[in-house]
This record gives sequence, structure tokens and C-alpha cells, in this order.
Amino acid sequence: MKIIMLGAPGAGKGTQAKQIAAKYDIPHISTGDIFRANIKNGTELGKKAKEYMDQGLLVPDELTCDLVMDRIQEDDCAKGFVLDGFPRTIPQAEALTAALEKIGQKMDFAIDVDVPDENIVNRMSGRRACLECGATYHIVAIPPKQEGVCDNCGSKLVLRDDDKPETVQKRLDVYHEQTQPLIDYYNKAGILKSVDGTQPMEKVFEDITNILA
Ligand code: AP5
Repeated sequence: MKIIMLGAPGAGKGTQAKQIAAKYDIPHISTGDIFRANIKNGTELGKKAKEYMDQGLLVPDELTCDLVMDRIQEDDCAKGFVLDGFPRTIPQAEALTAALEKIGQKMDFAIDVDVPDENIVNRMSGRRACLECGATYHIVAIPPKQEGVCDNCGSKLVLRDDDKPETVQKRLDVYHEQTQPLIDYYNKAGILKSVDGTQPMEKVFEDITNILA
């Protein structure tokens, strides 16, 4: 099963993608996580990506597409995968469609996690992230057992640099301009499904599993 998670920054794509990956035993491929790991490790890609991410801008397609195309051809993707944060522009979507067509495949579902902008800024200011293992929490909705400490690996939780309110607003503007057109793209491809992302996360997951069933 090959799934794309769509939705605004902070809509809950990552939260849901991790659970989908666990339930269906497929890899969770998050371009944001890949860039953050590169930033943490001080790679050239990480240095370039950080310039854009800190401003709430998208990393250029030429730095993004090849890394995803390589990743989805790895052996663990043979049964499928869940893409989180990719594609984010029409050229990225076209590159993905073309790469899959070449090997006689196509995406099965594009799931739009729908959350209005007014809910997003609050969610993001409450998010705490573990930069070691990628786990995310929310100080009210999904708190860690011990404040400021990751349940999974015991590392310190942080507010992501791009979760500051002024950067979140820029990310929302970029989302509406460059990523929202993908809803129409995948609707035309006949694989778009939408879920109400303002519901509790267990209910959002139930709605998604009903779609995938
Ligand atoms: P990325 O990491 O992909 O960020 P994003 O898309 O902006 O999404 P987020 O990770 O911020 O949010 P999410 O939807 O996953 O929500 P989450 O589950 O964490 O990308 C970061 C940057 O990298 C981009 O800005 C760009 O610069 C670059 N980049 C990445 N991919 C790229 C690409 N393809 N092309 C170009 N550039 C790219 O949830 C948010 C919070 O809400 C959490 O605290 C969570 O606990 C909480 N929450 C989740 N669900 C619920 C719920 N149902 N109710 C209450 N709270 C909830």
C-alpha cells in the first residue's frame, strides 16, 4: 500500500503516518525528518536545507526529489510506504508519478488531514519534538510522561526552530500557495480522501484505517 499524507503544517500528518506505518508494517518516509537528521549530523544537505527551513520556506525541489526517489526504491519499500511531507509542490508530485510509472506502479491513496489555519498556530506552539528519535508530543493533547523528556529514548524535548509563531505563519502561507494545489492534483487522479484532523487523534486514525480497509 502506497500512501501520501497531505495537510497543512501541524495538521497531524506525522502523528498519523507513524501509526499507519506501524499498523501496516511499511516504512514512514518523512522528508522533514530526513532534513532534520541531516542538519543534526552537519551534512552539506543539512546546511542547505536549514537555510530554507528556518525561514519557513520549502527546500528546493532539486534537493528533495532525488532523495525520495532513491528512498522508495530501497528493499523495505517493496510492500509500500507512507510519504509524510512529500510531495509538496506540483513538480514534486509529477516527479513521483513519473518515477512510479516507469516501474509500472502508482500511489494508492492521498489522505488530506484537514485542519483550519486558526487551530494550527496553537498546535505548533505546544508541540515538543525529540530530535534524536523523531517522536512528537503536545504539551496539552499528547504530553510526555515526564515533562521535557522523550518517552521513547529519554532525550530532551525541544520546540522546533520552525515552530515559532512568525515562522508558522510563513509556513502556512507557503502551504496554501505551493502545496494545497496537490489536493486538486490527487482528486483528479482519483485517489484523494479527506479526514477531519480537528478530531482527537485516535478518531482521526480510525477514519484513516476505515479508508485504507
Ligand atoms: P515537515 O517536518 O514535513 O513539517 P510540516 O509539513 O510543516 O509538518 P509538521 O511536521 O510541522 O506537522 P505534522 O502535520 O506532521 O503534524 P504533527 O503530527 O507533528 O517539514 C519541515 C520543513 O522541511 C518544511 O517547512 C520545509 O522547509 C522542509 N521540507 C520538508 N519536506 C519538504 C518537501 N517535500 N519539499 C520541500 N521542503 C520540504 O502534529 C502537530 C502537533 O499537533 C503535535 O504536537 C501533535 O502532538 C499534535 N497533534 C497531532 N494530531 C492531533 C490531534 N488530532 N489533536 C490534537 N493535537 C494533535
